[in-house]
Amino acid sequence: MTEDDATLILPTVTAEGSVDDTAVFARVEDARPEVDPASRALIELDGVGMTYPGPPPVEALKPVQLKVGDGEYVAIVGPSGSGKSTLLNLLGLLDAPTSGTYWLDGHDTSTMKESMRTRLRADKIGFIFQSFHLMSHRTATENVAMSLVYQGIPRRRRRQIAREKLELVGLGHRLDALPTTLSGGERQRVAIARALAAEPSLLLCDEPTGNLDSHTADAVLATIDELHSGGLTVLMITHDHDVAERAQRAVTIRDGELREGNHIGDERVPTDHPGPGTLVMPRAQ
Ligand SMILES: Nc1ncnc2c1ncn2[C@@H]1O[C@H](COP(=O)(O)OP(=O)(O)OP(=O)(O)O)[C@@H](O)[C@H]1O
Ligand SMILES: [Mg+2]
Repeated sequence: MTEDDATLILPTVTAEGSVDDTAVFARVEDARPEVDPASRALIELDGVGMTYPGPPPVEALKPVQLKVGDGEYVAIVGPSGSGKSTLLNLLGLLDAPTSGTYWLDGHDTSTMKESMRTRLRADKIGFIFQSFHLMSHRTATENVAMSLVYQGIPRRRRRQIAREKLELVGLGHRLDALPTTLSGGERQRVAIARALAAEPSLLLCDEPTGNLDSHTADAVLATIDELHSGGLTVLMITHDHDVAERAQRAVTIRDGELREGNHIGDERVPTDHPGPGTLVMPRAQ
C-alpha cells in the first residue's frame, strides 16, 4: 500500500485547504448498485485471482474461493510477498481482479463502473494501514471529518460525527491535536476513527500494529476487538500470530494461495471453524 493508494479513499483538498467535493458527488450520485438479496455473505470471492502484468507477469493471487460472513473477524496470515496486500487491495476495491467475481454485500463488483466501485467503497469499507496516512496540517477532527465528503454530509455534521468517533476510540481529549503531537498509538486511533466515520460494514486492516510497540499494539487491537463485538466485520492482514489469534478464524496465504487455518511454520490439518463463512481450496489448474 502506497501513499498514492491512500489518496483513493480520501477526499480532494484544495491548495487553500478547503475540501473540493463537487466532483466526487457528481461521480457517485448516479451510482446506486443493485443488490442480490439471495446473498448472505458480506464478502464472497469466486475464482478471484490477480496477475500483475509485468513484464514479467506476476501471479500474486491464484484463483480462490472465499466467503466471509457478516460480523466475522477473520485474520489473513502470511509471510512477506505472499499476496496479503494484493488480496486486501482487491477486497477494498482499490484494485480489480484479473479473474473471477467479487461479491461485496450482494453487489457484483466485477461488472461495476469505477464510479460505482467508489460509491460502494465509501459506503461499506473502512481501511486501516500500517502507516496512518493522516494529513499532518489537519487536526484529528479534520482528518476524520474529511473522510465523510464522499457521503454528501454537510460540514457541520461531518465534524460532529468526527468528534463522536474520536471519543469512541478514546481520543475525546485530543480533538484539536495535530498528528505530529500525537503518539503512534493515538495516530492509529485517529485512523480507526476515520475508518469508522461512514459507518462501514467491513473494516479492512493491513498490519495496523506494524509500527507500534507491543503495549500500544495491544490497546489498538483491543479497540478493534470491541468494534467487532459491536457487530463490525473485521478482516485483519498480518504476519504476526499473536495478532491473528485474536480473530475468530484464520486463513493462511502463501505464494498467492489461500488455506483455511493458521499454517505458517507448520503443516497442521485445519480444524473446522464455527463462523458463518467458508473457504474452499484454490481450484485445480
Ligand atoms: N504492482 C505490482 N507489480 C508486479 N508485482 C507486484 C506488484 N505488487 C506486488 N507484486 C508482487 O506480488 C507478490 C505479492 O505482493 P504483496 O504486496 O501482496 O505481498 P504481501 O504479502 O503484502 O507482502 P508484505 O508482507 O511484504 O507486505 C509479490 O511477489 C510482489 O513482488
Ligand atoms: Mg503487504
